Amino acid sequence: MLLAKTREQIDPIAHGWRIDRLKTALVPTMGNLHEGHLALVAAAKREADKVITSIYVNPTQFGQGEDFENYPRTLERDRELLAQAGCDLVFVPDQGVMYPFGLDDQVRVLAPAALANTLEGQTRPGHFDGVTTVVARLFNLVRPDIAVFGEKDYQQLLVIRRMSEDLGYGIRVVSVPTVRESSGLAMSSRNNYLDAGQRAGAGELSKVLLQAAHRIVRDSGNPEQVERDATDRLKQAGFQVDYVAVRRAQDLGTPQDSDRDLKVLAAVYFGGTRLIDNVNANRVGIPED
Ligand code: PAF
Repeated sequence: MLLAKTREQIDPIAHGWRIDRLKTALVPTMGNLHEGHLALVAAAKREADKVITSIYVNPTQFGQGEDFENYPRTLERDRELLAQAGCDLVFVPDQGVMYPFGLDDQVRVLAPAALANTLEGQTRPGHFDGVTTVVARLFNLVRPDIAVFGEKDYQQLLVIRRMSEDLGYGIRVVSVPTVRESSGLAMSSRNNYLDAGQRAGAGELSKVLLQAAHRIVRDSGNPEQVERDATDRLKQAGFQVDYVAVRRAQDLGTPQDSDRDLKVLAAVYFGGTRLIDNVNANRVGIPED
């Protein structure tokens, strides 16, 4: 597996692949890789001839008091996992490569407000502007044909898809279903903040969301009532609830009776760790997650 840290290093490799008409897929990550990331790499390998995984902990998407400083950095292990997974190139830029003019006055890409200011954006103002800014920079540096993102961060997926279309990147954004631990807990680097007992208990989050989805699908449950009941169940299970929301899958708008493809999304705190998850609630079928 090749390693590139700078634009000068990645440019000739990516250019050579383009000349050879090889299709490239980018898997953007912040490292501390787990099975969920490896599923993204596997999907990238199915979709493209060459897979590039980037590892960069992006300061501009962390708010004040969030875990930027403590975010786990495990580069050597990440490189081993990526090599085993058949990744072709790992791109590990530093801050000077990603933000050459520093963090105080850089050009920023603003995420569209209607998509970005709800749910995660309400608790984490500016978060998605940090994500779009860094992903735009990665798109410009790598210039992939395809970019692969996980459905666990569903709002991020929609924001990036929209950015790619709005800015005319022509990059196909591929999504990959959430990978879960045996308890049902969605895989996330932040699960490492939980101890073993909390980790097992946190699986309850996905169970509550699935039950909510079943009520929407099977019992034509009223979304607002379903949200209230799921919130109560989560509180009883020891979670501090930030939000539980039934939304249109397409744009996270408030669902109307005629909307079929819905999502149940939630963010909670468990033992001080913020967890997010979502499941499908497709009114014409049974939820699959
Ligand atoms: O999902 C993530 O890990 C990050 O938000 C991303 C897309 C790598 C941007 O920093």
